[in-house]
Amino acid sequence: MRYNPPATLHAREAFLRIQIAFGVLVALVLLAVPARAGQGLPDPGTDREFSAKLTVCNECHGASGIRKNATIPLIGGQPENYLLKQLHDFERGDRRDEVMPWMAKTLTPPELGIAAAYFAKQQWPARSTAAASTPPPPGVAVCQACHAMDFVGARQADGTAAPRLAGQGYEYLVEAMRRFAEGERKNHDVMTKMMAAMSRADREAMARYLSGL
Ligand code: HEC
Ligand code: HEC
Repeated sequence: MRYNPPATLHAREAFLRIQIAFGVLVALVLLAVPARAGQGLPDPGTDREFSAKLTVCNECHGASGIRKNATIPLIGGQPENYLLKQLHDFERGDRRDEVMPWMAKTLTPPELGIAAAYFAKQQWPARSTAAASTPPPPGVAVCQACHAMDFVGARQADGTAAPRLAGQGYEYLVEAMRRFAEGERKNHDVMTKMMAAMSRADREAMARYLSGL
């Protein structure tokens, strides 16, 4: 069956806000446990407090790819340094969102690193058989130059990483591209300029192709 992305993404925004507000409440209650001082680096396997924090992440991002809603990205299996950069960008305010800056601030600097490593080690979920395959849209080679031929992400010359796009959710991809295009997401100049140069229809076609990989 062909996957039809909802046409009414913005109509669902109000509902989403309520869901997100609830998510934050749950998170704050869980995180109200005071930090214990004088310990070494937390181990998600044995440190209950830290593993409770990671459980909060999984509430939305989902273990094995089951996310709370379609606008939330898959993060398990992304390059570690990509994840860490995003967490820092959210924390510093270079990347805006209603929830993620709060989330990033609940982790101490060493915990940010461990969380990035933890999610990077997870397996990207297997391609769903329901995912639609569409022919590659024109201009795809430009994207492959940085995101890798098969779009699984790649290390860049400057040491940063281009994220995996193959199999990422359509709704998230199209919204991420819109945010770059309209200057809401400012944490990568090249991406901002490239997305601004693409029409909305081209961005949608690209997102549809990438989500079906
Ligand atoms: C209430 C839901 C929610 C919770 C809880 C949550 N996230 Fe997120 N996360 C999101 C959403 C929504 C986005 C996408 C933001 C955007 O569109 O820019 C996101 C984006 C991200 C990204 C960027 C992914 C990418 O592909 O660029 C990372 C990394 C991330 N979250 C890590 C975490 C970690 C680590 C935690 C736990 C400390 C966490 N998140 C908790 C909702 C959540
Ligand atoms: C010059 C290298 C380069 C090229 C070319 C490029 N990208 Fe990117 N892209 C990146 C990097 C690096 C990031 C991560 C930016 C950051 O740090 O937030 C990124 C991020 C993204 C994201 C956000 C993913 C997420 O998880 O939030 C999307 C979507 C994306 N690129 C789509 C594309 C598409 C579509 C094209 C082709 C039209 C393209 N990119 C071309 C380097 C590139």
